[in-house]
Amino acid sequence: APIMPPDLSKCYPATAPALDNKCCPPYVPGETISEYSFPATPLRVRRPAHIVKDDQEYMDKYKEAVRRMKNLPADHPWNYYQQANIHCQYCNYAYHQQNADDVPIQVHFSWIFLPWHRYYLHFYERILGKLIDDDTFTIPFWNWDTKDGMTFPAIFQDAASPLYDPKRDQRHVKDGKILDLKYAITENESTASDSEIIRENLCFIQKTFKHSLSLAELFMGDPVRAGEKEIQEANGQLEVIHNAVHSWVGEPSGNYEDMGDFSTAARDSVFFCHHCNVDRMWDIYRNLRGNRVEFEDNDWLDSTFLFHDENEQLVKVKMRDCLNPTKLRYTFEQVPLPWLGKIN
Ligand code: C2O
Repeated sequence: APIMPPDLSKCYPATAPALDNKCCPPYVPGETISEYSFPATPLRVRRPAHIVKDDQEYMDKYKEAVRRMKNLPADHPWNYYQQANIHCQYCNYAYHQQNADDVPIQVHFSWIFLPWHRYYLHFYERILGKLIDDDTFTIPFWNWDTKDGMTFPAIFQDAASPLYDPKRDQRHVKDGKILDLKYAITENESTASDSEIIRENLCFIQKTFKHSLSLAELFMGDPVRAGEKEIQEANGQLEVIHNAVHSWVGEPSGNYEDMGDFSTAARDSVFFCHHCNVDRMWDIYRNLRGNRVEFEDNDWLDSTFLFHDENEQLVKVKMRDCLNPTKLRYTFEQVPLPWLGKIN
């Protein structure tokens, strides 16, 4: 059977030392759960972070939206830290699966990873747009699959901006250091030259696509069904690449805050920019496969999650309804794919 949303009245202390194990949202007894009405707005185009940097009008809007989100009352479901806590709730075991009360919900390490994060970003983006009354607003993507995007995006680096977060690995986010997609917390810094790391990154992405094109489990992650606990090794290769970016940005001490720990990762605005590119990688993967459904399996298609939408409604959404971003009314700007070369 598919994974079902939690009983919101039962939120448990999370496994999240960085937050004193606290990330449950305020509970509203009797809050109604409605069907999400998918937007009927114009198609919004997500653009690369290193390009929007020079679009002053866009940057002003983006910062203003995040500023407003941070200024909302602390218990408002749209509040910046409430939005970040959603990630903690579904990753650090604050909720258990309905009808399987001792099995926590975990949205990583399986085929749920990509669709759940797609919805998470979608609602976050729609809420930001609503806060500045702009139906065309999109979050940018960290274009780490191309040379010009392989450094920490400058738009998050201004200490005076609401997009800033001091809890980062300063060795990496400063001075145009090249991102290493094979970086993991336990590894040492790569000693390779910049051009060598860039080449390695591109090869790594290319190999990932090439090896997983015919089998979606390899790219997206293995099945997880109602009542099953996640298995860490079951994650897909895109998730593995994505982990390296989290580790590379988080502070290399304590709990690796913010980006390096599930419970705090979404407190850094760059989280959404990073995941926007992860989401884009999935979209490219899908296009390369002729938009074939990845898993013809109702346990995947009917997996259901809850979010607060851009109308402050608590809504339920199914995986099957997010497979094509057009239904969510967004797309990605087409930019060169320097790694694609030898796949086809
Ligand atoms: Cu939910 Cu980048 O992780």
